[in-house]
Amino acid sequence: MRIYEAKDYQEMSRKAANILSAQVILKPDSVLGLATGSTPIGMYDQLVEWYKKGDLDFSKVKTVNLDEYKGLTHDNDQSYYYFMHEHLFDRVNIDPANTNVPDGTEEDPEKECARYEKLIESMGGVDIQLLGIGHNGHIGFNEPDSTFAKTTHCVDLAESTIEANKRFFASVDDVPRQAYTMGIGTIMKAKKILLIVNGESKADAVAKAFFGPVTPEVPASILQFHSDVVVIGDSAALSKIPR
Ligand code: F6R
Repeated sequence: MRIYEAKDYQEMSRKAANILSAQVILKPDSVLGLATGSTPIGMYDQLVEWYKKGDLDFSKVKTVNLDEYKGLTHDNDQSYYYFMHEHLFDRVNIDPANTNVPDGTEEDPEKECARYEKLIESMGGVDIQLLGIGHNGHIGFNEPDSTFAKTTHCVDLAESTIEANKRFFASVDDVPRQAYTMGIGTIMKAKKILLIVNGESKADAVAKAFFGPVTPEVPASILQFHSDVVVIGDSAALSKIPR
């Protein structure tokens, strides 16, 4: 694992965009595993800027997103489908047919999870998976648990995640209670992992995930067993790691 320190959010975003753009330049038909949330917004903005300058071409890129709220339609501005179109897909020359987000409107979890897992396999797997990390160490919507979930599955969101995400909704009652997410096994199959993190509030999660024991109680800790992980954190997020 390589950990790179960035002085602030902007530098973290630029470094992360550098890695994703290198991937696309080296392999134009890359399968990018993407994430939503507040952390990657600056990185997506940077990628869009480089695309507009003519430095990046997404025409052959394929994407699979980590997760989606169950029950939200595509036009709901809190759905991850909406987020991805707003922050990246509608701003670059990616073919919408090559973009994939779990279908939150599919009511049958078994059907949707099997479909998504098969889809990733049929694309030849993920070349690079972008991740954020939750305050409780979650990745995707894989919450602290007694075991690591293997494949794409439907989860009941932890109270702490509902609390953390309520800022995006009119009220806490509007936050969906379930989500579809790639499993830990799905994430671990990605050839490379890029985890980005900023802010002091994530410093404990970072220290536990990368320097504590590997345990499903801290889902991101499993990344210690992946052979190609890059973590880019701002100084605040890395302030509690051993030096
Ligand atoms: C988003 C996702 C989540 C977030 C995490 C951090 O697709 O899978 O695991 O990466 O909750 O969220 P932010 O970036 O909003 O702090």
